[in-house]
Order: sequence, then C-alpha cells, then structure tokens
Amino acid sequence: MIQYGACYYPEHWTPEQAKNHIPLMKRANINVVRMGEFAWSRFEPEQGRYRFDWMDEVIQSLHKEGISTVLCTPTCIPPQWAVVKHPGMLQRDAHGRVRNPGARCHCCKNAPEYQLLSERIVDQMARHYAEMPGVIGWQTDNEFGCHNTTRCYCDHCQAAFRDWLLEKYKDTDTVNQAWGTAFWSFEFQQWNEIPLPRAMPAGNNPSHWLDFARFSSDTQVKFQQAQYDLLKGLCPKHFVTHNFMGRFPEIDYYKLAQFTDFPSWDNYPEGCDDPFLPAYQHEITRSFTGSFWVMEQKSGPTGDSQSGLLGEQPEPGEIRRWTWQAVANGADGVCYFRWRACLSGAEQYWHGILDHDGAPRRRYAEVAKTGEELARLGKVIAGSKVETPVAILRGYPMLWSIERQPGAAGFHYDDHCYEIYRAVKRTAHGCDFVNIDSGIDKYKVLFAPCLCLADKKLADKLDAFAQAGGTVVFTPQSGARTPSNTMWAHPRPGALAAMAGLTVDEVRPYHHGQTENVEPVGSDSPVSSATVEKWVEVLACRDAQPVAQYAEGRLKEKCAAARNSRGKGAVYYLGVYLQGEALAAFVAAIAPEFPVPGIPEGVEVTRRSGKQGSFLFVINHGNQSQTLTLPSAFEELITGEKIGPEVKVARNGILVFKT
Ligand code: GAL
Repeated sequence: MIQYGACYYPEHWTPEQAKNHIPLMKRANINVVRMGEFAWSRFEPEQGRYRFDWMDEVIQSLHKEGISTVLCTPTCIPPQWAVVKHPGMLQRDAHGRVRNPGARCHCCKNAPEYQLLSERIVDQMARHYAEMPGVIGWQTDNEFGCHNTTRCYCDHCQAAFRDWLLEKYKDTDTVNQAWGTAFWSFEFQQWNEIPLPRAMPAGNNPSHWLDFARFSSDTQVKFQQAQYDLLKGLCPKHFVTHNFMGRFPEIDYYKLAQFTDFPSWDNYPEGCDDPFLPAYQHEITRSFTGSFWVMEQKSGPTGDSQSGLLGEQPEPGEIRRWTWQAVANGADGVCYFRWRACLSGAEQYWHGILDHDGAPRRRYAEVAKTGEELARLGKVIAGSKVETPVAILRGYPMLWSIERQPGAAGFHYDDHCYEIYRAVKRTAHGCDFVNIDSGIDKYKVLFAPCLCLADKKLADKLDAFAQAGGTVVFTPQSGARTPSNTMWAHPRPGALAAMAGLTVDEVRPYHHGQTENVEPVGSDSPVSSATVEKWVEVLACRDAQPVAQYAEGRLKEKCAAARNSRGKGAVYYLGVYLQGEALAAFVAAIAPEFPVPGIPEGVEVTRRSGKQGSFLFVINHGNQSQTLTLPSAFEELITGEKIGPEVKVARNGILVFKT
C-alpha cells in the first residue's frame, strides 16, 4: 500500500465546520493524516497540565474509517507561557538581535529550558499514544532550520560551540593549527576566547565558519536524536520520521536521517519551475535510507506568510502529476498540505485540497482520482525500490565551504550538482546521492563535483572505487582544500592528483561573463565542443590523457579535461564547468545504457523494482504530448491496456508499465 494522506489541523475547526471532513477524506481514498505539529499550546495549556482528549477523539474517529495517524511532536513552537517564562530560550541572529516569538522556529535548540520543555512534552505524548489504535508513526517537530533558523548566535550557542570544539580538537593549540589562526591575530590560549562567527566588519576565517556550520547542523541532529531515542524507546511499534526540505543547504541530512526510520520532505513546486527539481529532491531524500515520504505536497495555491502573496493555482493535472512523480522516484507515502485552507493566522492565504469554505471542487476531485489509482496500483508497486548504477557525491561540508568561498561569482555548489543530476536524468537512470562516508561499491559511475575538501583517506577510497572498475568524475576546484577548509600547500587537485594523473597549472575565475571555447581531443572523446564560463583551469597531464582542450586565445591547445585509466576503471578530471547539452552528452557517453533511449525533453522515465516485478514510469511534464519507444509492448497498469513499443504520453500524462 502507498500511504496517501493530508496534513490536518483539527485544532482549527469547530465540530460543525469539521463534520464533513472525515467522510470527504474517505471518499478521496485518503488513508493517513498527519497532525499536531503546531499544537503545543493545546496539548499543554499550562506548564505540566497536559490535554490529549481532543486529539484522541479525532484519532479514534479517523481510525474507525480506516484512516491512520502520523502524530507530530509539537516542539517547533512552544506555547506563549513558556516563552514569557523563559525569554532566554529565544534565538539571536548574527547581529545579536532576538528572534521574536509570535511566528515559529524562534527557540534555540541549545537553550536548556527549551530542551527540557521539549523533552517533557515528547515524553508525555509518547507515553499517551504508544498503544493508541490508529497511530502508526511520528514526525518530529517541523522542518528543522526553516526560516533561516539553523544558525543561532545566542550565548547558549556560544557555550555549546566551545564544548563542541573541545570534543573535536581537545586543546586550543589544535584549533589554532586547524584554522590557521596566525592570520589576523586570531590565536587562542583559552576556550573562552573563541567567539561565534557573528557579523564582523570583514570576512570571517573560513575554517571558523565551516566548524560553526558543522556545529549548527549537529545541534539540529542532536535535538532530533533526543526525540528519536525517546520515541523509539516508548513507542517501539511506531516509525519516526522528520520532514526535511529537499535541497535545503544548512543541515547535514545524511547525519539527520540516521535518527529517522526514513526521511520525508515537503514539496512545493510552482507550475513555472523546472519540473525536474522535485525529482532531484525526491532522489536526495530517498538516498539517505532507501525510502521516503513526501510529507507535505502542494495541493493548492501557496500563500506566503510574509509577503502575503498568493502563489500559483495548480493547473488541472498537476497535483496528480506531482504525486505520481514522487511515487515514480521511490516515495512510499504522499500527504497533501493541507486538508483545508485555514481561516486565520499567518497562513490563512495558504490553500489546501479544500478552500476556506470546505467545499470539494476540482482539486479535491483530482486528489480523489489519484487516490483511486494509487489504491489500485499501490498493491503491486509497494515495496519496490529505485536502484541505480549512478551516484553523485553531494556533501554538506563541501556546500558550506563553497557557500563561504564560491571562487567564481554566481557559482553555487548545489546548482552545479543539480546540473549534473539533470544530465543523468536525461539518460533515465535514477541517481543516488552519497557523502564521503557512504558505501559506494554498488555504483558504476560516481560524480564528485567540486570536491573541494579532500584528504588522502578520501582519495584512497575513491581511487579504490576506480581501480575496481568504477568511473569517477571530478570537476573544477576539487582537492584544493583540507577538510578544515584551509588551502593545501600541494598543487591542485591536492590529494586527488595521483588518481587524476594530473595537476592544475592555473585557475582563472570569470566573474564578468567571459567565456572559453573547448573542443574534444581524440575521436572517442566524451567531451564535445562547448562554450564554458565562470571558472576554467589549465591542466598539466602526467599519466592522464587529454580529452578536451581550449580551442582558441591564449589558452589555445592547453588541456581542459583529461581521463586517467586507473586499474579496471577511470578517472575524469574536468577543468571546466560543462553545462546543458555538452554536459548531457558527456554524461550519456560515460553512463551505462538504459533500456529506453532517446527520451524526449520534458519527459521523465524512472524505474522501481521489487518482488512483484519491475515498473517503468513515464511522466510527461511538458506542454505537448510526446512519443517514445519502449523495448517492447507492456501492460500499462493505470488503464490495464497492453501498449508499445511506441507509446504516446499526453501532457500531464502518466504511464506505468510492468516490465
Ligand atoms: C512548510 C511547512 C508548513 C507550512 C507550509 C506552507 O514549509 O512545513 O508548516 O508552513 O510550508 O507554508
């Protein structure tokens, strides 16, 4: 079964207003709801006085109709009494200003009072709901770090940061060494001399910054771990998840996901966005544990709480397409945000499946139709997984390092990962995302874009992968920095030079739109002629063979990209950021073949496999119908018809084949 649901806020409705909710949910094939993440003031109206009866009634009424509950810990927003009593738990920004209460996410996860109050409410809820029929799992809190709140600069964080450094480095000399504090008289004798990287008149020390980014991420992870341990201890029958934010850059989600049974994420595409961006985030989220849910799926016009602007109304067919896209990329559950648009509060403009009046209209009808399809197909699809030979090494410390020092104006690490991902998608292969600690042996091709922080240990691991037959691809700026974010004294790409079989002779940032043309070297080069921008490197090959060179100007005939044979495999070092068609051609040339070639632009093809077979999903995100050729005719599961090998997929169309 695929879990199909909605985010529901019973605390917003009178019994009269809510009387049709459950019957309508049932008619729409909804089998799960998520509740409670912002209801702390209802659960604990006064300190130590807990009230769960109102929620129990809703859970029981839903359960009677076969609808399960994912309950949330409500720690994202403590009640006002708590904030008034303990103002020291409010966060501070980099300028030392208080993040005021009244909205959400304003409490500091290093504040002892907040930790204690959170622990108590989670403990009470877990004990109360451990055995309640209908409750199947928990979502902790809500979107850690949302509204730029991962990084807090209060005094609690100051103290906790020093403890974190003590644990990591043991003594201040080692910190001085790791951060290179001889620069600008930043050397410490005592722990209490180490500040937070608050707003400063000039740029902060990049190593200080990177450790602060790591510490801030670890703070979120520790908060999650505390709730995870409590919930798993008291509610062994329930799963525990958290709703991640896809490509959100501030938390190391590999670490966070270790304290979930599976992660979820919240998907809010606008019709005008690139339709493959949700796929990117589905695959990122899936990669942490192998399965995931979409816990919040846009189902109506969004209504930004700050600007007050109304977002796009989903076009007919879009909600269904977004839902199937999640399933096609491995989701085992999809919940819409929100069941019904609320009548008050910062998000009163944010629509759900139902509008404010609760009347079922076309979005409801589309949700019901999709629910009917998923109820039927879910029986065979459930349990199947996306498996792929291709992975991208997308590491949060790399992201933070590049965020601090992108090198080239307008360069973003995550956008670069996305461009590579988009090129992989055009081959129809799924793509896993890994970090430097992940197992990589099962892959055939590993992209390690902009692998700026690299030491010998990482180089040895990647080299062993290549020697065993894998293909590794590096892109510019790789290997330049130590894991502490200082620069290596060796030529670029530092520890990666031996496996890449080359060094970098010169780097040239292009901030003002300058470009270079590159051309292939050799008839079997995977690199085609292309124009590149932002940043170029001149490579000096030792063992490696050039596969591309600069075509003209002062760099003419100098090496731009090279391949080094390594045992049974190979290492590519691209000294330029290939984009668009050139990147797609390069990826297609080195990736294993996929059984459906020539996928038209805008069409997404994915594959899930399991005990009940292998399923090919074809989704048309484009504006026109498209045709593609499958390896043979197959049964299409939504209609039950056998079609192919040539198949037509309409605009917003979805085909699911059992192959
Ligand atoms: C998400 C959040 C929800 C709701 C939604 C619409 O980011 O988790 O609580 O705020 O956005 O704004």
